[in-house]
Amino acid sequence: MDDMFVRNAWYCAGWDYHLSQGQKSLLARKIAGERVVLYRKPDGGVVAMEDRCCHRGAALSLGQKEGDCVRCMYHGLKFGPDGVCVEIPGQDTIGRRARVRTFPVVEKNNWIWVWMGDPDKADEDLICFSVGPGNPDWNIKTSEMRINANYRLEMENLADLSHVAFVHQQTLGGADLETRRGWTEVNAIHTVLERGLNTKYCIRNVPVFHVLTHLFPPEARFDLEFDINITIPLNWVTHIKVYPAGTEGVGRQLISETYTVQTVCPEDEDGVQYYYSWGESKATDFPGVSDLLRETLDKAFVEDKTMLEAQHVRRAEKPDAPMINIAVDAGPNKMLGVLDKMLREEREEREAIARVA
Ligand code: FES
Ligand SMILES: [Fe+2]
Repeated sequence: MDDMFVRNAWYCAGWDYHLSQGQKSLLARKIAGERVVLYRKPDGGVVAMEDRCCHRGAALSLGQKEGDCVRCMYHGLKFGPDGVCVEIPGQDTIGRRARVRTFPVVEKNNWIWVWMGDPDKADEDLICFSVGPGNPDWNIKTSEMRINANYRLEMENLADLSHVAFVHQQTLGGADLETRRGWTEVNAIHTVLERGLNTKYCIRNVPVFHVLTHLFPPEARFDLEFDINITIPLNWVTHIKVYPAGTEGVGRQLISETYTVQTVCPEDEDGVQYYYSWGESKATDFPGVSDLLRETLDKAFVEDKTMLEAQHVRRAEKPDAPMINIAVDAGPNKMLGVLDKMLREEREEREAIARVA
């Protein structure tokens, strides 16, 4: 289990509105194989701690908040926001081992981020750039979905958009041959980053996203420019600009400028929680379009979910069966390479520490 996830990384635990102030609002998550409970303190700050009582392993998320603290509602142990037990009903002494692990946690751009590794290495600058629903310049609309597939399959999916022409014929792509040619013959420029991958695509001379075609004349064709940053563990931040097909240069008409900001939180080997959004810039938006984009993602990700869950079952049944590479695998293979390099480095660091100990 330990080798499947990069530990020294910020993992998204959800949108900020998932955490309310209510006494019962304890948010149970599984992140990179760890049970985590999150709650908001009266001052608005967020606490993330292991969702496992140190007494007998009960779920703290079934407990209750008391001020800054959380009380396990099995036998009543009460823990402070630093994870230290401050009360044991029925006795006066509290042993040093009466504590639960806590995790560094940060709210940024309307997301909650939890650091799953060495707390001393929790650098907030490693949280990915994003544009949240609170950003005044954008109409970002949010959503989420559970997908029962390993996050490496999601990584392959997000690092190659050619599948839009096949998986997403009814939503993002289209069943016509122009769309297929545009999305599969795309000249992607991949740049490997220290903790991720930047990909630039220009998809030329295609109809607009399938669900928006009713907004334009049937013969209208567009150039779609994508600037995508994927970072570890699996954040996908994409800036999309749409222009009339074949236009170039500074004065060309910008028809649509959107951000779709998505993060896939690996829960364990078999599933992810997906938090995502899409929306227009205020400069190009017109009423209802950003909502339509978000609804489109809801439908499109059900299309991905169906494909990925069936793929996950087949990969698990025959994990060592050979597979082949085709041209569009360049992005997925580069991103998986970044992940595997980080996993290898963390494993070597753990082994070096174990040798010294
Ligand atoms: S398991 Fe939490 S108090 Fe007993
Ligand atoms: Fe997709």
